[in-house]
Amino acid sequence: MSSPDASQHSADPHTAEQILAMDAYLERTVVQPDEHFARIRQAADEADMPAIEVSSAQGKLLHLLARISGARRVLEVGTLAGFSTLWLARGVGEQGTVTTCEFEPRHAEVARRNLDAAGVGDRVEILLGPAEDSLTSLRQQQVEPFDLIFLDADKASMDRYLELSLELSRPGTVIVGDNVVRGGSVLTDQDDPDSAGIRRFLSALGEDPRTEATAIQTVGAKPWDGFSLAVVNQVPGR
Ligand code: DHB
Ligand code: MG
Repeated sequence: MSSPDASQHSADPHTAEQILAMDAYLERTVVQPDEHFARIRQAADEADMPAIEVSSAQGKLLHLLARISGARRVLEVGTLAGFSTLWLARGVGEQGTVTTCEFEPRHAEVARRNLDAAGVGDRVEILLGPAEDSLTSLRQQQVEPFDLIFLDADKASMDRYLELSLELSRPGTVIVGDNVVRGGSVLTDQDDPDSAGIRRFLSALGEDPRTEATAIQTVGAKPWDGFSLAVVNQVPGR
């Protein structure tokens, strides 16, 4: 699963080993995930799910962003086994909720078990099906705006998820997008639909007057990638 693997890194093997060792060091000194996160990884592994969840350091960043922004209502697109979901559920606290969208019924089942076992099941709702449908349905139900939104599903639809997310936001909503670098292919690969989706997403983040954004490249337990961070603006006349 996501046992860190130096061969995934594009850095030379020696540097890759050092990067992994450094992330392991940061994980045990400052991130300090409890045993529930290791259990989720193991459950995902046993269910043969792809080992593509966020690293512990990245998950803790999501948790901190939820706390710093005082988020009570979090929306996640892409549940997988519930690893980032647990970080976010811890971040919103007992009074908060996480609504998370998952396409694969089998993944949603594993996540449900994992989140219940971690003691946050009652604050997490898993919406099964294509995220575009789930987000559209939330919009039609006129749910309260979300405080923080984490986009981490299929990359080809990232721009569409952003558009729908903005309709589920208020000024001040934090929007985080995962995998905006993809080992550099976002810049170099013109044929990959996922990279094209990320380019449309980043262009929209940069151009849309409703968002103020940055994007940060990352290396660590996961290979070279990056995330975007945006806040929703108060736009006059809206
Ligand atoms: C992939 C997806 C992710 O969300 C991620 O963080 C890394 C890789 C992928 O689909 O390959
Ligand atoms: Mg991701």
